[in-house]
Amino acid sequence: MQILPTENELRAWRKAAGSRRVVLVPTMGALHEGHVHLVRVARELAGSDGLVSVSIFVNPLQFGPKEDFSRYPRELEADAAKCESAGCDVIFAPAVDEVYHADRSIIILEKSLSTVLCGASRPGHFDGVCTVVAKLFNYFQPDDAVFGKKDYQQLAIIRRMVRDLNFPIVLHGIDTVREADGLAMSSRNRYLSPDERAQAPALRRALLALREAFLGGERSSATLKAIALSILERDSPIARLDYLEVCDAETLQPVESLAERPSVVAVAAFFGKARLIDNIEL
Ligand code: PAJ
Repeated sequence: MQILPTENELRAWRKAAGSRRVVLVPTMGALHEGHVHLVRVARELAGSDGLVSVSIFVNPLQFGPKEDFSRYPRELEADAAKCESAGCDVIFAPAVDEVYHADRSIIILEKSLSTVLCGASRPGHFDGVCTVVAKLFNYFQPDDAVFGKKDYQQLAIIRRMVRDLNFPIVLHGIDTVREADGLAMSSRNRYLSPDERAQAPALRRALLALREAFLGGERSSATLKAIALSILERDSPIARLDYLEVCDAETLQPVESLAERPSVVAVAAFFGKARLIDNIEL
């Protein structure tokens, strides 16, 4: 496995790859079992003749001024070992000034899906995500790219970008990998104090209770949300809710009642300094 820090080296690698199938897993590093699972999925997609690539880049453009860009964990050596054991062929790990010119003046702005949920509470976040993912797609020119459904809104927005900007890339959305107690794995879980960590799985339990009620026939978003909130309030008084929303699975717009179309329930809450997200498809 190679670790490439510059665009020139990556371009040369891509040229040498020729017509072999290239599968990309974009990440910000601090890799956990969820990321490693994506790399394994990429390995299967690529097959024995294809190439698995991982990008590790903490993208400053997607962090707000008061967010955790500077303290976001960086541990390239450990990440590289995990990637290699999951079957990765190449890691692109550039420095910030390798990716962004000081006088850069073009970004990618998504104007609909990013107005709700995390986009509403993190202004500019998805512009940063779209911009860096478009750049990664241009660097790697992958045939496939693998993303986690844990960041459901991110996946929906990147799907839209691929469609609207004609990237010839097949996207794969992969189910969330969880700890034994249901907490979605996240690089930010390490920010949790023992008390916060103990209460954080309430997010998942709240979503599961909501889905139970849905499967039992309940269709009112307000009632379903109240069921989830009561669990969260009971089991996790530490949590400060950012949002809990029942949305259309494709447009992400809030829905008042669940009709025929697929829906997703998304939640975000602060546990101390950590902002955790989760979702469940209905
Ligand atoms: P990051 O948070 O490092 O996540 C990289 C990929 O791993 C994303 O597709 C994310 O959805 C997926 N992922 C995270 N936790 C997961 C889990 N528990 N189970 C399955 N997949 C999981 O998302 C980003 O980085 C960035 O925004 C990025 C797309 C790299 C652009 O900078």
